Amino acid sequence: MTEQHNEMAPAQSRSEQAIRTIVQEHQALWRILDLLDQLLSDMNVNEQRPDERLLDRIFDYIQHFSQRVHSTPTDIELYKRLGEKSPETVPLLEKLARGYVIGHEKLLELRSLLAFCMENWPQGREEFSHALARFTEALRKHIRKEEGVVIPRARKLLSAEDWEQIVEARDVENDPLFGERVREEFRELRHQIISYTPERLGGLGLKHEERVSAPHARQEMLAIKGLATSYGQIEVLHDIDVHINSGEIVSLVGANGAGKSTLLMSISGLQPMERGSMVFEGKDLGKVSADQRVAQGIVQVPEGRQVFKDLSVQDNLLLGAYTRGRSPEVMDDLERMYTKFPILRQKRHNLAGELSGGQQQMLAMGRALMARPRLLLLDEPSMGLAPLIIEEIFDIIKELKEEGITIFLVEQNASQALALADRGYVLETGQVVIEGTGRELLSNEKVREAYLGM
Ligand SMILES: Nc1ncnc2c1ncn2[C@@H]1O[C@H](COP(=O)(O)OP(=O)(O)O)[C@@H](O)[C@H]1O
Ligand SMILES: [Mg+2]
Repeated sequence: MTEQHNEMAPAQSRSEQAIRTIVQEHQALWRILDLLDQLLSDMNVNEQRPDERLLDRIFDYIQHFSQRVHSTPTDIELYKRLGEKSPETVPLLEKLARGYVIGHEKLLELRSLLAFCMENWPQGREEFSHALARFTEALRKHIRKEEGVVIPRARKLLSAEDWEQIVEARDVENDPLFGERVREEFRELRHQIISYTPERLGGLGLKHEERVSAPHARQEMLAIKGLATSYGQIEVLHDIDVHINSGEIVSLVGANGAGKSTLLMSISGLQPMERGSMVFEGKDLGKVSADQRVAQGIVQVPEGRQVFKDLSVQDNLLLGAYTRGRSPEVMDDLERMYTKFPILRQKRHNLAGELSGGQQQMLAMGRALMARPRLLLLDEPSMGLAPLIIEEIFDIIKELKEEGITIFLVEQNASQALALADRGYVLETGQVVIEGTGRELLSNEKVREAYLGM
């Protein structure tokens, strides 16, 4: 009985894990579709010649996706299993699978229309833009059907064993949806798109409304009320009220010296609280030590990474799990870190000090993840990194959220931090001066002026 119960729990989370993978790829694709819309409007409303390189990269991305699926449509484990369990869904699944094939053909057509259009501009513009508009619409429909019908039915009808098999397909390199290598390739292609996307279009960072509702309602995870703290005689945080709901990314922005790191250290228990209260998952943290907080799931990645430079990458990661001993579970997690951060596997025997800044940041995050955080506190993860690496770090943060980790993100890089945040706070000289959703803060006049340089 107990044993069965033990097996049920991870199986259930596997189904959510698989669903999140799909939804995550969809969201990336959806952002790219939005970008295409913007490019379309530039072309039609502003009569701008399209940027061929950028469009090419975007088409590469979509083509890569459709080719993967198109070449082996029956191999989508999820479709196959759902079809067996739910005959009435078969026509839809067949239609969606056909959509991949047709989409592939349409894409090749689009590419030749684009080539013609570039050579004979403005001739061919209308034909290309119509075809492109139809294409993005069809793709959006496809995503909506998958998320609105296929996933809810799969969630309801598939057994633990089905999900086990579906997730196992992850390990098969070429599984079109779950293969790690395939996801790596997508990430690389996204980087290329980002690097060609003009700044004014805002990259691909903007968060989208979730079309698949989370299985659990959002609950308050951390509540801080009236927090004050001092260094010696000097009070640096005054009367802070901040709350974080489970599953959220909450961003904290503010100038150098505003007190952001101090707030994070108060939460992780490294900086004593002078006044106020802090409640985590219903429990008062007042007398809970920093170590105990780690064991309860509050884990901080400190500013400036602070990896152990004279230890190997692997030993750094294992140190992250010191509260958990060296169980087989920990070794599984280590393996998972290497899958998430392939570069760390490559360098597992190198000293941490030999890694680049971006790699050290990944190591610091990997080490924190080894403690199995439920609330991850990130202190300026993008500091001092090159733009492309920053994109990668932000991608990883999004993935962590998709995996169900709640994130409190401190950043000076306000535009990106707010773009991916559910909510955010602005801290000025130790006080919260503005709070709101990520979007609200991004469009707030004061925030734009002071933190976004607009
Ligand atoms: N260990 C410390 N001793 C004394 N003052 C400190 C210490 N750490 C930070 N401060 C001061 O507290 C304020 C907040 O610092 P910090 O939390 O590091 O800000 P932020 O992370 O927003 O840059 C600053 O005025 C800083 O100089
Ligand atoms: Mg700081």
